[in-house]
Amino acid sequence: MQALPAKAMVIKMNNVLPLRVGIIGAGFIAGTAHLPSLMKLGTRIRLVAIADNRPEALKHIKKYYPIEKTYTDPYEMLRENELDLVHICTANNTHKEFTIAALRSGANVLCEKPLALTVADTKEMFQEADKAGKLLIACQNNRMGPMQKVKELIENGVLGNVYYTEIENIRRRGVPAWGRFHTKEDNGGGPLCDVGVHYIDAALFAVGNPKLVSVSANTFTKIANRGPASVDTMGAMTGEKPYLPRRDYDYHDYSVEDFASGIARFENGMQMMIKFSWALNLPRYDNYKIVGDRAGLVYEKSAGKEHPITLYGQQDDYLSDQSLEIPIAQKGAMHDVGHELLIHHLADVLQNGEKCVIQREEMLNVVAVMEAFYLSGKLNREIRREELSDCQK
Ligand SMILES: NC(=O)c1ccc[n+]([C@@H]2O[C@H](COP(=O)([O-])OP(=O)(O)OC[C@H]3O[C@@H](n4cnc5c(N)ncnc54)[C@H](O)[C@@H]3O)[C@@H](O)[C@H]2O)c1
Repeated sequence: MQALPAKAMVIKMNNVLPLRVGIIGAGFIAGTAHLPSLMKLGTRIRLVAIADNRPEALKHIKKYYPIEKTYTDPYEMLRENELDLVHICTANNTHKEFTIAALRSGANVLCEKPLALTVADTKEMFQEADKAGKLLIACQNNRMGPMQKVKELIENGVLGNVYYTEIENIRRRGVPAWGRFHTKEDNGGGPLCDVGVHYIDAALFAVGNPKLVSVSANTFTKIANRGPASVDTMGAMTGEKPYLPRRDYDYHDYSVEDFASGIARFENGMQMMIKFSWALNLPRYDNYKIVGDRAGLVYEKSAGKEHPITLYGQQDDYLSDQSLEIPIAQKGAMHDVGHELLIHHLADVLQNGEKCVIQREEMLNVVAVMEAFYLSGKLNREIRREELSDCQK
């Protein structure tokens, strides 16, 4: 369990002081999720600075948000401002470097997911957090809201003993093309580490974080590197919005998987089927299935249903299907309220000493699944937990 560091508690005592916030990365997620959520915190925060190595991104974001200072060099921002909290909103492969720099500057860190792609790197980041006496959490916003309710149901025994889960987000054609998601150099991996990381996190959170035993998986790149037609057509990527300007996308640069499929085993005997695609010749599908010996639960995340969560159980001698009315779940994936809930929760953690809903052991377990998944795909065999980077000399 990640204890609240001593210096963060000082902020709690001075509850009236606004959190001095800085952001690294002025792209899509900073403009559409982090900044709007921070703005809603009003005087509890000060938007002190934002850094991005694209001056046009800084100029653009300044039009929408009252950020005091902008920097093209994140290190200069960290040196010149005594920040309490830094949000890391850059491409995946910079997360470790910027997180460590922000922690060393004396700030707590909310780092976009995934924290890193190996357990060894993630542990190094936490060691730095410990040295600095600061909090580091991954922005696992999908566990907020509906999945917290699902977790409560499971803890209350509604499903009985959970022994099987399925997590899937199948996009038939949906490569995110506004940033650098499609290159290994920037993102590390494709849909598994971009979208899958959320579902792995939220599902494991809901079922009580059983420890990983092994993963057997495959990653494929069959469609997205063939032509421009596989890019994301989600409306969110067009028009005059806070996250512009987008960059050119060239499918020739595509170097990550477009489909990831695998099975993970956990210490409590639970099995998890994992399927994530940005380009696959199957219909769109997006859900969690969590199955216990009393009932099963299906959460159809992007189906646009009024009641996306259904329980499949038994009443006396009859099978019963129950739709759950969880208002917070009645929104599509792109309109997720998760960032707002998480960012406001983090303010409560830092300012009011609330217990953090995202624990270190959970974050490490998620990265373990991802590392084992990619290694299994690469070596074409099952990978056991003890083969991962943190267990190697
Ligand atoms: N939690 C979620 O639901 C969610 C959703 C989308 C993206 N993300 C994550 O957020 C991160 C950013 O994604 P995005 O969609 O905002 O991408 P983006 O490309 O739109 O934004 C990233 C920004 O970082 C800047 N940047 C990159 N390298 C830099 C460097 N060395 N120095 C300074 N600035 C640098 C880029 O110029 C860009 O403006 C990724 O890790 C992604 O996985 C999370």
